[in-house]
Amino acid sequence: MIVFDSVTKTYRGMTAPALDHVSFHVKPGSICGVVGLSGAGKSTLIRCMTGLERVDSGSIRIGSIDITALSGAELRKAQRNLGVVFQHFNLLQQRTALQNVMFPLLVAGVGKAEAARRARELLHLVGLTDKLNSYPSKLSGGQQQRVGIARALATNPKVLLCDEFTSALDPINTKSILELVKRLNSELGVTVLIVTHQLSIAQQACDSLIVIDEGHIVEDGPAQAVLKSPRSRILRAMVTTLAWS
Ligand SMILES: Nc1ncnc2c1ncn2[C@@H]1O[C@H](COP(=O)(O)OP(=O)(O)O)[C@@H](O)[C@H]1O
Ligand SMILES: [Mg+2]
Repeated sequence: MIVFDSVTKTYRGMTAPALDHVSFHVKPGSICGVVGLSGAGKSTLIRCMTGLERVDSGSIRIGSIDITALSGAELRKAQRNLGVVFQHFNLLQQRTALQNVMFPLLVAGVGKAEAARRARELLHLVGLTDKLNSYPSKLSGGQQQRVGIARALATNPKVLLCDEFTSALDPINTKSILELVKRLNSELGVTVLIVTHQLSIAQQACDSLIVIDEGHIVEDGPAQAVLKSPRSRILRAMVTTLAWS
């Protein structure tokens, strides 16, 4: 269970908070979409969750751990429960797919042979068995994101955080990456947070949905119910774009 309890965060020099008393929870093993326009506070929410940004007030619990109460070695240990997938993949260009997936395992102190075994298993799971020794520059965007997902899962996290992770991909690759994430969610039981400005992504993949507007949660509920009867101005406007995407 992920629980945000009245999380507030204002960046230095800004008057309006990027997150204003944000409260919601995500059921374990579910896929939750966090939707909002650019600047709504989505990435801030993710960065507060990973401990990269400190909150001003409120708490963020992941399982039994309050991430906002930790620092140093304790925070680094808790961070291993979170796998992060990035928009621009962020792969190490001088390392092969296998080495990229091994990297977080080696950092976590896993031996080289065991790290290689686990990385091979993960790359098989994401459909890249034949690309183990390929460098990122030789892989398509969709394949690079599969490596990114395998790497995020390397330390066996309970939660997978995906921030605009399909924004650099075409619609076909987007669909297949979303299908991969749905399969990993059901096979591994990993809880997934998909952050996106595209409502169609949430519609395709999410069990529950929260909508954030200028740092406030304006919608929260089962994805289909929220999409069927949007109450907020912002979601009403976004729903009209669905027919076009
Ligand atoms: N490091 C930062 N310093 C100051 N303001 C920031 C910083 N990061 C984000 N912001 C501001 O906080 C708000 C939310 O940004 P962000 O969380 O990146 O939104 P989103 O991911 O939804 O586009 C925006 O007004 C943005 O300009
Ligand atoms: Mg963002």
